[in-house]
Amino acid sequence: MKILKTMLGLGAAFAVTLSSAAAFAEGYPERTITMVVPFAAGGPTDTVARLVAESMSKDLGQQIIVENVGGAGGTLGAGRVAAAPADGYTVLLHHIGMATSATLYRKLAYDTLNAFDYVGLVTDVPMTIVARKDLEPADLKGLVDYMKANKDTVTVANAGIVTASHLCGMLLMSAIDTPLVTVPYKGTGPAMTDLLGGQVDIMCDQTTNTTKQIQGGTIKAYAVTSPARLDVLPDVPTAAEGGLADFQVGIWHGIYAPKGTPSEAIERLSKSLQVALKDQNVAARFAELGTAPSPEADATPAALKAKLESEIARWKPVIEAAGQFAD
Ligand code: MLT
Repeated sequence: MKILKTMLGLGAAFAVTLSSAAAFAEGYPERTITMVVPFAAGGPTDTVARLVAESMSKDLGQQIIVENVGGAGGTLGAGRVAAAPADGYTVLLHHIGMATSATLYRKLAYDTLNAFDYVGLVTDVPMTIVARKDLEPADLKGLVDYMKANKDTVTVANAGIVTASHLCGMLLMSAIDTPLVTVPYKGTGPAMTDLLGGQVDIMCDQTTNTTKQIQGGTIKAYAVTSPARLDVLPDVPTAAEGGLADFQVGIWHGIYAPKGTPSEAIERLSKSLQVALKDQNVAARFAELGTAPSPEADATPAALKAKLESEIARWKPVIEAAGQFAD
C-alpha cells in the first residue's frame, strides 16, 4: 500500500510537471523580456540587438527591452545574465568576446561553458580600420608607415580588454610589429564620439558602427577586414589589398540565456530569432550596415554551442602565447 501511494504520488508529481511545462509553453512569454547588451548604448552590439529585439518582439507578442550593462570588456553584462533567474525573461546578446574572455580573464564571475543555455547565432560582422577624418595618411600603406613613425603618440581606441575592437587593434599592431597607445572605452559607441571629435586617432571597429560615418565622410576608412570589398563600402579596399595579407576579422554574435532556462522558452526564443533573421526589414538594415543575418540553420542552440566551444578552443592558444591576461 505504501509503495502504491508512493507510486501514485510520483505519478501525480510527474503529471503536474508535464502540465506546468505545457502551460509554460502555451503562455510564454507573458511579460516583457530583457535583452542585456554588455556594451554601451549606440555602439555596434547595441545596434544589432535593437534591430533583432524589435523584430523578435513582434513575433513573440511581448516587448524585448534592451538593457546596456557595459564595462570589463563585456564580462559585467554576461555576469549579470549568468546570475539572472533562468525563467526565459532575461537573455544576453554578446559577440566573439564571449569566447575570448573565457581565456583572457584570469577570473570571471561565471563559468562561460556552463553558465548559459544557447538560443542561436545572429550575424557575423566585418570590421574596418578607421581614423579621425583629418589623419594625414591617404591609404593603408601610408597609415602603416605613419603608425610606425609615431608609435608613442598614435592612439588606438577600443571598447576595453577582450572586446572585438581590442582584438582587432592587437592584431593590427602584431601585423605591423609595432605597439601603439591604446585607449579603452565602455563600448565603441562612446569611442566613436571621441574619434569624431578628434580626441583619438584610430579604431578598428565593426561596420555596424562605422558604415554610416564612413559614407558621411565624418571619419576616414583605410580598410575592411573581410575577404572581399563590401557592397556598401565599394571604395574601401580590403586589408589584403592595402598590403596586410591575411588580415581578416569577423565578429560573430549570439543570444544566450541563463543555464536552466526551460527548454520551451529556449525553443520559442530560437524560433523567434529565426523569424527575425528572415524579416526583410532586419536583412535590409543589416545590409545597409555591411553585414548579413546568420543562416536559419545557425540560429539554433546547437550551432551557437558548437561555435562558442570551437572559438574558445581557437583563441585559447593564441591568447596564452601572447601571455596577456586581464584581472
Ligand atoms: C560595442 O558594442 O561597443 C562593441 O561591440 C565593442 C567591441 O569592440 O567589442
